[in-house]
Amino acid sequence: MVFTDDKISNFMVKRSLKLLSDSFESKNKSIEAAKILDPCIGGASFDIALFQALEQEYIKSYKLSEFLKTNFIGIDIEASAIELAKENLKKVGISYADNLNLKCKDYLTDFNEQGFDLIIGNPPYIGEKGNRAVFSKIRATEFGKKYYEKGMDYFYFFIEKSLEILNEDGILTMITPAYWTRADSASKLREAIRARASFVDVVDFGELRAFKDAVGHHSLIFFLQKKKTAEFSYYLINETKNDLGEILENILYGINMSPEPEISISKENHSDFIKSCVSSEFCMNYSPYFNFISKKTQGIFEKIKKHTKSTLGELASINQGIVSGADRVTNKNLSALKEQIDNEANINVKIGDGIFVLNEKEASEYINVCSCLVSFYKNSDITAYSIKKPKYYLFYSTSKMSDADKEKVIKHLYKFEVILNKRRESMLGKLPYYHLQWPRRKEIFTGEKIVSPQRALYPSFAYSDDELYASADVYYITDIKENLFFILGYLNSSFTDFYLRHVGKKKGKYLELYQRPLSEMPVIDISEDKKLEIAHRAQKITNSKICDSLKISQLKLEIDNIIWNELYNL
Ligand SMILES: C[S@@+](CC[C@H](N)C(=O)[O-])C[C@H]1O[C@@H](n2cnc3c(N)ncnc32)[C@H](O)[C@@H]1O
Repeated sequence: MVFTDDKISNFMVKRSLKLLSDSFESKNKSIEAAKILDPCIGGASFDIALFQALEQEYIKSYKLSEFLKTNFIGIDIEASAIELAKENLKKVGISYADNLNLKCKDYLTDFNEQGFDLIIGNPPYIGEKGNRAVFSKIRATEFGKKYYEKGMDYFYFFIEKSLEILNEDGILTMITPAYWTRADSASKLREAIRARASFVDVVDFGELRAFKDAVGHHSLIFFLQKKKTAEFSYYLINETKNDLGEILENILYGINMSPEPEISISKENHSDFIKSCVSSEFCMNYSPYFNFISKKTQGIFEKIKKHTKSTLGELASINQGIVSGADRVTNKNLSALKEQIDNEANINVKIGDGIFVLNEKEASEYINVCSCLVSFYKNSDITAYSIKKPKYYLFYSTSKMSDADKEKVIKHLYKFEVILNKRRESMLGKLPYYHLQWPRRKEIFTGEKIVSPQRALYPSFAYSDDELYASADVYYITDIKENLFFILGYLNSSFTDFYLRHVGKKKGKYLELYQRPLSEMPVIDISEDKKLEIAHRAQKITNSKICDSLKISQLKLEIDNIIWNELYNL
């Protein structure tokens, strides 16, 4: 179980109580009438912070136990969590913990109370993969049917349920992974929020880890209010070695606030965090995702929208690379193989052996004798404007290969037959074991194209008119109905970086350059003359040698300037 750090729960509690008390005060109501819920109490980290903050600032000590017994509910699905919560509460002096309303229940399926003014917690993060039973229970209910979406996480339900049972003007505060604000699998969740609530504050941890052991985990604290508001504050914490508790205190009390930069994501900013004022309408409605873009920067996005006739997806086809279904032998492959063959001594297969993807040594006997053995590129071979020499080979094995090739492919693959027959299409009898699972259309790899790795620190698009075969982590932009080199220059520009970093998809610092973000990338209306100027430079960069790096940087800068000038002059 992941428990929330005290510094984080203290911050979330203090900010939520301030919002709650402001809201009650504006209606001349006493906070003593507020109903509060923690739907997943765990070890009671929020509740300890909550009870202490209530006593310090809002409720007289002699009234606290009465208030908590009648106005607070804590829930957890695990009886052991409820016991632990009671124990922890007693340790901090809540001697009446046994008399509190702490219930062992499933919040999503067995809890029907309504009318809360504050719901606060750290919900469980559980993906559906490997946890079907957890999901089938909730999916069998009306509520589950209403909100289930493919690829979702279990914590989405906690937000949706909380919005349903919250009073009007009530506050919902949670810490969750950050990705749902932009995930395709969270469109119902975003719609539920859009329809009912507004953000009051959002604290984005950026690259800073909220949970020590959760590597690659990006966290977000959000404060939602069940009403419509015009704007909210978005805090982006920078990568810093400073104490998290201090940073959160500074956010809470508005200390050490650096001025909001003109462009909301600025690499030059060294303060602990950046605060921006964001329009609720823009955040929720500029695109299908939630966009935390400051009001200062918002104008440029409105301009981009106004001056875009086509997206990249309308001007070209965007294709994913090859899925072989078994590139090289994995641990899992090996156990499948051992399971089926009794005499293990006969298995001459090791982890890492090439199945469809071969290294130089493995490929040596087939080079020049098997025409379906092709050079195979890794996504890291592709950078902006250039492509490295590949180190691997692939059997481009499909129903169209010659009999002579088929014979050689089988010679290499027969010992992997058991592994290859475990692929879904092979199990269904649709695919011979020696064929690639998804070879795609061959022309994608052989014709003129722009390629990009699916994830990169900067826009990384390169031109190729050679054969270029790669895995599904490479995207191929083909059939381009525009000047190809203009598109190449445009995609590699600082404008594309700016656009994707703000409203495209990101995983931490990495841009996600796959199907949907690429398809949705606007191609702004640039005059024909300027397009040619960009194309000319992009072509020159493509044909340059690496040693021309000064010249290349100059040309890249010129492309950036043309695009930004065009945009400002529109
Ligand atoms: C991430 S932990 C958070 C614990 C605590 N709130 C904290 O921040 O330290 C999530 C908790 O949710 C509980 N939980 C999981 N599914 C639940 C459900 N359907 N209803 C209520 N609690 C649930 C787990 O038992 C666990 O204690």
